[in-house]
Amino acid sequence: MPFIKSEVLPKTGNKIIDAWHHQLAQSVNHAYAVWGRQHTMEELGAILDGFFGNIRRHFVLEESIIRGAGYEDWKTHVLKHRMLRSELEVCVNKLHQSDAPQGALIDAFSQIDSLIYDHEFLEDQDFWTIFERNARVTGGEPLVVWRPNFLLGVPGLDKEHMALVTLLNTIYEMAANDHTGPEITGLVQSLREHTATHFANEEAYGRDHGLPAWGEHADMHAYLLADLDDLAAKAEIETADDLCNYLENYLRYWLIDHIITADDVIRKNAKKLVH
Ligand SMILES: [Fe+2]
Ligand SMILES: [Fe+2]
Ligand SMILES: [Fe+2]
Ligand SMILES: [Fe+2]
Repeated sequence: MPFIKSEVLPKTGNKIIDAWHHQLAQSVNHAYAVWGRQHTMEELGAILDGFFGNIRRHFVLEESIIRGAGYEDWKTHVLKHRMLRSELEVCVNKLHQSDAPQGALIDAFSQIDSLIYDHEFLEDQDFWTIFERNARVTGGEPLVVWRPNFLLGVPGLDKEHMALVTLLNTIYEMAANDHTGPEITGLVQSLREHTATHFANEEAYGRDHGLPAWGEHADMHAYLLADLDDLAAKAEIETADDLCNYLENYLRYWLIDHIITADDVIRKNAKKLVH
């Protein structure tokens, strides 16, 4: 019997978040099944480490999506994630003590149980109404409409952001018109390359100007590059509909959120330099 019945997880209305919830439930079930049979602490510890790493990544992705989609109470949700993350951190540390008792494992599983049920099951429904308003893009509208508040005040980086928005819109338009295969794969690879160059330039800017919390910012960049690698690998085999879903439910929110929220540290710095 599975530890968590992933098929009864409620839907948040965002397909990428829902797919993550499903995947998290599956990986907990895997860890639980291993716990129930012959195993070594190293084997189980490695599986649980992988799960905790995925939870951290899931939180970062979910925060980007809900902020990018315009969920006003995102700060409360981010605080909940922060608390859960530090509770999980305690569990992980206990599991890695050389004399970790069996009780540490029971604690870890009961912690995971309440995380999945109380947070992913219940609290994540706080934001589901936002996705009703962000229904599918229609009528030839671009996926991301450029807005003046995207500007950072650093001409080079602003141009790169504009190019990323244009590229994302082009890929979306092609997928929405049923183009698949090499045409799309080439564009996704180009998006991946432009994004990597932009991140490198931004990180150099951050280092040169001694911007705060740059490590976390660079982590967000690394997560997105890994996701774009995945997308580039899958683009050839995905259907046009799957690609549209990924762009509508994830990449557009990520880009909007990142330019407005995460890159704001650059915007503030540029303003300071002018005055
Ligand atoms: Fe979640
Ligand atoms: Fe959440
Ligand atoms: Fe940026
Ligand atoms: Fe950035």
